[in-house]
Parts: sequence; structure tokens; C-alpha cells
Amino acid sequence: MNIKKITIGADHAGYLLKEKVIAHLQERGIEVIDVGTNSPDSCHYPDFAHAVCKQVQDGTSELGILICGTGIGMSMAANKHRGIRAAVCSDTFSARLTRMHNNANVLCFGERVVGMGLALDLVDSFIDAEFEGGKHQTRVNMITAIEESESQK
Ligand code: RB5
Repeated sequence: MNIKKITIGADHAGYLLKEKVIAHLQERGIEVIDVGTNSPDSCHYPDFAHAVCKQVQDGTSELGILICGTGIGMSMAANKHRGIRAAVCSDTFSARLTRMHNNANVLCFGERVVGMGLALDLVDSFIDAEFEGGKHQTRVNMITAIEESESQK
């Protein structure tokens, strides 16, 4: 899959790294939608998780990237959205495999956890991997079934 458009968001703990990731994606010829934040002023990461996930849900972007201090809060908020499979990663193997096996559509990581070099490698590993389908599709369908049954409670 040749990724053409990505929506990215960060809170105050991730916005500096977000700027580096945006420059990297643009260098790769990928269109980037930046939903903020754009300052060190304290803000709330669920707002940015929501903004990114809406654009992945409605097809505006194929994939999303979310950065906070650890990546964890962003992934928790993102995974509350129907159809979103967000993975917090700090190694390239996981970033690659979560696309190949889980068909993850949002990558999360923490500016306080990973350095810039690793962050860009995480992004490349995630973007360049392809979902394998087959038995992995069966398992992703099972996640979707859980999501649907839980949303009716
Ligand atoms: C902000 O201090 C921090 O809690 C946030 O960026 C994130 O790491 C939460 O999971």
C-alpha cells in the first residue's frame, strides 16, 4: 500500500517531535494534515486523539500518528473509536508487525520515550509494512465483533 496521506496530532509533550515527523513525511512525498497542538502550553491529549481518529474513520487519511509523552494516553483514547486500531510502539519490529498482523491504522509513541532517530524509523516501519490478511483478517474481524457487541451495552 502506497500511503499518500497521514493525519498527525500531539499534545504539549509531543509537539516538538511532531514537527520532525511532519518534515520527514513531507520529504517522503506524503501529504500531512496536522491537527496540532503547536505550542508547549499544557493541553489534553484526548482532544488530539479524537481529531486524528475522526479523519482516519472518515477516510480523509489512510493512517494516523499520535505523539504524547509516552504514547499510552493517546493509544487509550484512540482505541475508543470504532474501527481504530491504535498501537503504541517503541521498537521497529512492533511498528512493522502491528501493520502486518493487526492492520493497525494509528501509530502512537512518546516523545519522552523515543529519540528522534528512532521515532522516524518507527514511522517508516509502520508506513512501509503491509497487512498480510488471511488468518490475521479473521482475528481483526474478531476484534471488530467485540467492539460492536460492547458498544451495544
Ligand atoms: C502529559 O504530561 C502526559 O501525561 C501525556 O503526554 C501522556 O504521556 C499521557 O499518556
